[in-house]
Amino acid sequence: MLRLRFSCFVALALSCMVASSANAHVHAFKFGETPDGEMVKVYTMKSDNGAYIEILTLGATIRKIEVPDKDGNVADVVFGFDNVEDYLSDENQYFGAVVGRYGNRIADGKFTIDDEEYQLATNDPPNHLHGGGDRALSKVVWKAKRFESETERGVTMWYTSPDGEEGYPGELSARVTYTLNNDNELRIDFEATTDKATVLNLTNHAYFNLHGAGSPTINDHELMINADRYTPVDDTLITTGELAPVEGTPLDFRTFHTIGERVDEFGYAKGAGYDHNFVINRDDAQEGEVITAAVLRDPESGRQLTVKTDQPGVQFYGGNFLHGQIGKDGQVYKKRSGCCLETQVFPDSPNKQGKEGWPNAVLRPGETYRHVQQFGFGVTE
Ligand code: GLA
Repeated sequence: MLRLRFSCFVALALSCMVASSANAHVHAFKFGETPDGEMVKVYTMKSDNGAYIEILTLGATIRKIEVPDKDGNVADVVFGFDNVEDYLSDENQYFGAVVGRYGNRIADGKFTIDDEEYQLATNDPPNHLHGGGDRALSKVVWKAKRFESETERGVTMWYTSPDGEEGYPGELSARVTYTLNNDNELRIDFEATTDKATVLNLTNHAYFNLHGAGSPTINDHELMINADRYTPVDDTLITTGELAPVEGTPLDFRTFHTIGERVDEFGYAKGAGYDHNFVINRDDAQEGEVITAAVLRDPESGRQLTVKTDQPGVQFYGGNFLHGQIGKDGQVYKKRSGCCLETQVFPDSPNKQGKEGWPNAVLRPGETYRHVQQFGFGVTE
């Protein structure tokens, strides 16, 4: 019922908008309210080439990405829900959200900066995952402002996280800008500053299925990951500190392989299947240069997603913990029916500072954290 009402509302509101401002590409509507009565808005935007995107102020979340296939047929390729209640429930495994303050895992939820030890929530026992509990960045309402030019349009969202929120030191001012251009590239720019030394790793956690969200599997998708090495993990998915070659393992995606081809060849005590951080080959790249991390394609529809970033790592998560959640318009999200490509610094980097080949994960006052995660949509030749 709610779902129907929302769709009708958007359709009606959109038609009014189209009538009143034919050239505008970005619109904002009320999506719902949190239990505390805070309003959650949805920003809608479209490109001149058939892409339509919705972003929520709750968790700065991507709710919908509609893109054409090789015959021009449009499908929604990301997971999402129809109401705020579902987004705030345990069924939501970070669908489309910005995760943080520290995306991915921190061993035992502990880290030390300048001799001071901090303890975070161990919400993925025994470890910390994706920023913790109710005040993780994926669960709070961000402020927002839209923008558009001739060729691009989007929305900037910002949130100030108080010192000590979810156990993290420092007041953090975070900003996320979603920009959609007419090549159907959605670029996400993350920026943040702090007033005390802290750890930070922001990333978007969208789940993709290029047949269309709710399709039963991604095991038939083909994947390329631009990485010679990965960061092995223990059975709680904490990185061991090694940077190991992918060669000779089911993690060798340097040329295209279907996801399903080798997915059952290996496993961990927890969550058999793909859930690994890859060390992106950046030897030929400048610092801060945005390069291709991965390409995902669906041979059937021809839809292709190119993920680009300036970060050192990308987590390829194959949806092993999905369990049939019911999402938008009754879509069912079964195990391995969606995958994430989370660009990032390496998992548990705060406890590997100074180790050779490991990135810096500490942000200090006066510095600006910057990260580009770009999702480009096209079709295969
Ligand atoms: C990630 C992790 C996975 C899992 C999902 C959320 O991307 O790498 O292990 O926790 O988030 O379910």
